[in-house]
Amino acid sequence: MAYETILVEVKGKVGVVTLNRPQALNALNGQLIDEVNAAIDGFEKDGDIGCIVLTGSEKAFAAGADIKEMQGRTFPGTYLDDKFADWDRISQRHKPIIAAVAGFALGGGCELAMMCDFIIAADNAKFGQPEINLGVIPGAGGTQRLTKAIGKAKAMDLILTGRMMDVNEAERAGLVARIVPLADLMAETMKAADSIAAKSLPSVLMAKEAINRAFEVALSEGLRFERRVFSSLFATHDQKEGMAAFIEKRKPDFQNR
Ligand code: CAA
Repeated sequence: MAYETILVEVKGKVGVVTLNRPQALNALNGQLIDEVNAAIDGFEKDGDIGCIVLTGSEKAFAAGADIKEMQGRTFPGTYLDDKFADWDRISQRHKPIIAAVAGFALGGGCELAMMCDFIIAADNAKFGQPEINLGVIPGAGGTQRLTKAIGKAKAMDLILTGRMMDVNEAERAGLVARIVPLADLMAETMKAADSIAAKSLPSVLMAKEAINRAFEVALSEGLRFERRVFSSLFATHDQKEGMAAFIEKRKPDFQNR
């Protein structure tokens, strides 16, 4: 498929999607979201891919949903179209997705980064949910995922004032997993992605699913789920191999089965 708003590359066992609408600071329009979903569909089906990276430019991960595209919408039309359901597919994926964020991650850009599994941010990254300044509110998960990530007080502060937070505040608040110098963003992200892609895929998929359960269910059900999944991994080749390799003091040869 020929993409117009993203760049797609495979680097070893990592699929990389780069948002590429520089003239609009990677504002997220319907075409871009469709293309991101199509690229990730391909990576999900590709048995050689073990991790996915989603990134933007040095100036902007994404400055939000495309305001020019949304401007003329009506209440029932927006509700019935349910465009953000397409966005939400990104959070439903099985393989891990790392957001490598530099520059602005605002509105839908912050929400898109939060749909990924974790965020590695450059030292110039800025996060915010400025929708209140446009007479609306976050619509792609910001009121929910930001609140779960950084707590009610800070989420209220950011969403009600529409202010941006710099990367240090974002890391202190728990939104960002690591801060790296801008020049090292992709190299550091690829190191993390390569390391994940080298693990046994079944364990990676189950670990991601179990962590995500923590946001959906009560602790007792989450713990039951974890124990079931933990036990089921003893049916894999890679569990036998991983434990044998440890005891034999050698590197495991995982076969993703
Ligand atoms: N949608 C459409 N176009 C956008 C955009 C957006 N979200 N953000 C930036 N652009 C465009 C600008 O219109 C401008 O285009 P033109 O040159 O054609 O005028 C171009 O990108 C460059 O932007 P600026 O000139 O504004 O760049 P700047 O460096 O002066 O400012 C900025 C950067 C602070 C990020 C500013 O662009 C800005 O505030 N952008 C909007 C941020 C925002 O409100 N995001 C929330 C959108 S709503 C949303 O996301 C809803 C949701 O929950 C999903």
